[in-house]
Amino acid sequence: MIAGDRRRDLTLDEAEFRGLAAIILRETGIALPDSKRPMLQSRLLGRLRALGLAGFSDYLALLSQADGADETAAAAEREELVSAVTTNVTGFFREEHHFRHLAETALPPLVARARAGGRVRIWSSACSTGEEVWSIAATLRRLCPDAGTLDLRVLASDVDRKALATAEAGRYGAEAQAALSADRQRLLFGAAEGTVLPDLRASLRFRHLNLIGPWPMRGRFDVIFCRNVVIYFDKPTQERLWSRFAEALVPGGWLYIGHSERVTGPAAPYFAPEGVTTYRRI
Ligand SMILES: C[S@@+](CC[C@H](N)C(=O)[O-])C[C@H]1O[C@@H](n2cnc3c(N)ncnc32)[C@H](O)[C@@H]1O
Repeated sequence: MIAGDRRRDLTLDEAEFRGLAAIILRETGIALPDSKRPMLQSRLLGRLRALGLAGFSDYLALLSQADGADETAAAAEREELVSAVTTNVTGFFREEHHFRHLAETALPPLVARARAGGRVRIWSSACSTGEEVWSIAATLRRLCPDAGTLDLRVLASDVDRKALATAEAGRYGAEAQAALSADRQRLLFGAAEGTVLPDLRASLRFRHLNLIGPWPMRGRFDVIFCRNVVIYFDKPTQERLWSRFAEALVPGGWLYIGHSERVTGPAAPYFAPEGVTTYRRI
């Protein structure tokens, strides 16, 4: 119903919250407790206004359309919903110790293997707006300027298409750059401002991917970054994901997770802790 047909009420009531939370859980794995109702309301108000809707029940109806052109509109709006509810906070070289470990421990044997003609795969599995994967690329570049000529690839993926587009564009504001040391600024941006160096792109691929959906990649990974995303999932979803990562990593591969996360459940015996939020696949 379009605003004007009846009085607008942009308050998210309990039943509407439950309906939206169920869609969000199904689409992303993100579990929203009741305490998140005000947050969800404020994040979605802009969508309701943009669509000219009179209230959240109309929004729910739009998201749930299942026929013909309506289904296309509903699918497009579910993408908007995902983008609105995901938290994209990130930063270059966030949780610095992972990049130190990557440079000093994980990468040197992988680079040697790639130079000997072997295959190496790295995955930034919830890359948000890209700072994480560009930090991986910069770390790799310092160790292996010829990475682009080797069978060494870095996959960057996220469920939020808008964040992923920002990641792929590789353009960042002055504020993000100012937080970097001069050395890292040079490594990422060269003398210019704004866009990451084209050389860093050589080994990177960007792809929309939902961690709770199918993973179409063939072959296993040597390194997986999955940081600051499972905190938004419920425990069964977290544990399923750890099991899938255990399958997706080669023996001896590395898993980096966020500062408040830890590997639990049936996959835990397959991961040996090796320092802060760093695990080695047994
Ligand atoms: C807080 S950011 C973390 C970014 C980066 N990994 C870091 O630690 O700085 C969380 C990211 O997880 C993504 N995300 C949430 N649910 C996801 C899912 N089911 N599949 C893939 N990515 C997801 C969000 O879109 C968001 O970009």
